[in-house]
Amino acid sequence: MTRELLIPLVSCLLVVNQASLIRRCDLAKVLHQEEMDGFEGYSLSDWLCLAFIESNFNISKVNENADGSYDYGLFQINSHYWCNDYKSHSENLCHVDCQDLLNPNLLAGIHCAKMIVSRSGGMNKWVEWRLHCSGRPLSYWMTGCRLE
Ligand SMILES: *[C@@H]1O[C@H](CO)[C@@H](O)[C@H](O)[C@H]1NC(C)=O
Repeated sequence: MTRELLIPLVSCLLVVNQASLIRRCDLAKVLHQEEMDGFEGYSLSDWLCLAFIESNFNISKVNENADGSYDYGLFQINSHYWCNDYKSHSENLCHVDCQDLLNPNLLAGIHCAKMIVSRSGGMNKWVEWRLHCSGRPLSYWMTGCRLE
């Protein structure tokens, strides 16, 4: 490929990459608007810690698991149980296309995450949350965030 083509292409990819990241306090605001604060007993800090540990705040993150299922979006929601990716068997408990969980408006992912924590075990279903967030002081996740 010629250099003339390569440079705009690379800078375009960089822009796309940046767009997939949401800033911590911007995410806190959306979660607050969607009434996640205190939902099933979990604070906004719990949700921020979960999103960071699962996706590094990368809205479009997709990860393949050893069993052939995929995890989607900020909360790395699994295609085997929660969403349909039309690739492998899915219970599709959230009644949603996995691709919708990557939407920058975050609504489908938040709706599905609410469904997941409403079931027994709550956030413990996210192994990484249990290992890295559960039972720890988490209020610093909200440092400097203004919700209005
Ligand atoms: C976000 O995730 C997508 C898909 O997994 C990946 O291609 C992209 O590089 C990630 N972006 C960042 C900034 O890490």
